[in-house]
Amino acid sequence: MERECQEALLDTPSLPRYTFTIMKKIALTGIKPTGELHIGNYFGAIKPALALAETYDARCFIADYHALNQVKNADQLRGSIAHVAAGWLAAGLDPEKILFYRQSAIPEVFELSTQLMAFTPKGMMNRAHAYKAAVQDNLERGADPDAGINMGLFTYPVLMAADIILFDADIVPVGKDQTQHIEMAQALAQTVNHNYGAEVLKVPQAAVVESVAVVPGLDGRKMSKSYGNTIPLFCGEKQLRSLIMRIVTNSQTVEEPKDPEKSQIFLLYKLFASKDEQDALAARYRAGGMGWGDAKAELFRAANRVLAPLREKYEHLMADRPALDAILARGAERARPIAAATVRRFRAAAGID
Ligand code: ADP
Ligand code: TRP
Repeated sequence: MERECQEALLDTPSLPRYTFTIMKKIALTGIKPTGELHIGNYFGAIKPALALAETYDARCFIADYHALNQVKNADQLRGSIAHVAAGWLAAGLDPEKILFYRQSAIPEVFELSTQLMAFTPKGMMNRAHAYKAAVQDNLERGADPDAGINMGLFTYPVLMAADIILFDADIVPVGKDQTQHIEMAQALAQTVNHNYGAEVLKVPQAAVVESVAVVPGLDGRKMSKSYGNTIPLFCGEKQLRSLIMRIVTNSQTVEEPKDPEKSQIFLLYKLFASKDEQDALAARYRAGGMGWGDAKAELFRAANRVLAPLREKYEHLMADRPALDAILARGAERARPIAAATVRRFRAAAGID
């Protein structure tokens, strides 16, 4: 964001006027609205992205056209879009501080995507991990290599490059699985700049977020919607309690001392409790005489203390869809001039002006 700060001494006519321009670097995050947010997403993606907004000019959008490649049911997609939008807002995204919009509300994304297509070698798309994995999967099942693969999946990296480049992102915080996409966005921006001999497009950098910690799921594996072992971020109190009670434990008796660091109940507890609370519970684990039921009750108490206010905010936001839509529309309104400027730069450089 460009902030113009007028010198404090402006009123003193004998002194010169100074204007400082402070450029904050731009960080951009894209969220694909597929499925229900869980506490792994909250601690692994949402909280770290919101923390970045302290240092960067943050831009955050709902990648609904990316989700369309997977989700073909309108009610389901509509529901997921509202769910993740309300979810991020409930988790603390301040739309006054962070530019927050829907990809589909920015037609310039699709224009830049077409512009980038002309510079995208087909071979680069052939090498994209998600596409390659889908082909491999088909081959292993003895199916046609192209079975179930749409052009949206094949050209996914180009649309993602357009998302990033359109908003002049300096850094894109992503998990390891997304770094190839950022490299492709870099390559495309560089190819365009090289072709026209000018810095037409900003070349983005990846900031790999070494996942804060992998949040364990109910069965001890990484919490993931594909494993069906999640604790939904906004589930009701009753469901929260019953899911926590279902966490798989070993057969240690109540009397036996237990190692907190080897217990996924404790790992989850650490996410929600203060340092003093963590130390106190760890001491009870080590002393023996505390059963898994008690540990789960402590986890429920700590988790619900953090999640209850989030749940309340989320429900409030979901109950007023027009207000939610208005927040996103306002974000899009602020985002479009930035997007239009990038597309104009490209058009001028390319001779389509
Ligand atoms: P899922 O594995 O449930 O499909 P996604 O792939 O949609 O989750 O993840 C969205 C974001 O949440 C990613 O940035 C990912 O790194 C983060 N995330 C997902 N699960 C976890 C987890 N168990 N621990 C930490 N971060 C996670
Ligand atoms: N591909 C990302 C994912 O699957 C979502 C995404 C789309 C994205 N466009 C983006 C992330 C731009 C960062 C920047 O999670």
